[in-house]
Amino acid sequence: MDSLILLEGVSFRYEGAGSRALDDVRLSIAPGEFVGVIGPAGAGKTTLAHTLSGVVPHVRRGDFYGSARVAGLDTVTASVVELSKTVGCVFQDVESQFVTTMVEDEVLFALENFDVPRDEIPARVDRALADLNITDLRSRGISTLSGGQKQKVALAAALALAPSALVLDEATGELDPASSVQVFGLLSQLRRERGTTIIVIEQKIMLLCAYADRLLVMDQGRVVIDGPVRRTLEQPDRLLSLGVNCPRVTTLAARLREKELYHGPPPINLDEAETMVREAMA
Ligand SMILES: Nc1ncnc2c1ncn2[C@@H]1O[C@H](COP(=O)(O)OP(=O)(O)OP(=O)(O)O)[C@@H](O)[C@H]1O
Ligand SMILES: [Mg+2]
Repeated sequence: MDSLILLEGVSFRYEGAGSRALDDVRLSIAPGEFVGVIGPAGAGKTTLAHTLSGVVPHVRRGDFYGSARVAGLDTVTASVVELSKTVGCVFQDVESQFVTTMVEDEVLFALENFDVPRDEIPARVDRALADLNITDLRSRGISTLSGGQKQKVALAAALALAPSALVLDEATGELDPASSVQVFGLLSQLRRERGTTIIVIEQKIMLLCAYADRLLVMDQGRVVIDGPVRRTLEQPDRLLSLGVNCPRVTTLAARLREKELYHGPPPINLDEAETMVREAMA
């Protein structure tokens, strides 16, 4: 398999920390994959995202072992700027990511600084704002926006660059449910139309599972489960013991299967949940 992202034996310990935030992580992600990442607090999910963006070990320093390559770039020898042309990241704490004070400038900044041809820029800005449904916020000051609106601006700025890979680290936490669904729809569209590789760290597991094709579960710096979404959801007891809040419908599927009232896979959307309930009732 051709990997866009290849981590081989990656371990990382933050300066001054006692234990490793990443512990021997091996991971290969092909171009165009949509990968979900879940795991309890402190599992190393954000550290993994920072490793892909180069923030670890360039900005957040510490002991780094192993090798991490993204689109052929070694994250230890490449600069954060070089990496940011390939990997777009949006984090939960959007505040710290903004480099300008106005919505339009924020989207423009990225494009102007990343060798996008001048004549393409206005259309790219329009498209990014329209994609996130925030055209009306174009001339607003970022500080006047709500948390959810700020997240949309950060997402628009990342999307406008059309990077090879997009990493979202709990970047829809402040969005209302409809906007979250819209963002996931956009990610799917990007993957379909441009072959963008999507990596999403997310608490909303059901939403994630409806879109991702592969799910990683992290615990104590390690990737402890890595496989197709459904196969991961088939282990609700394992997920619960790791401290992952398993979707209730998944737990229900497991219980119904134990009682032989249902024989299908764990549902990953409403239609499948309905089919399961009908089968169990019949
Ligand atoms: N800047 C830092 N300095 C020292 N230790 C850190 C730093 N950032 C994170 N850690 C530690 O590294 C480990 C992994 O943290 P990380 O933020 O990657 O976890 P996470 O899975 O993203 O958690 P959460 O679900 O709470 O966001 C934790 O033990 C954390 O305390
Ligand atoms: Mg985190």
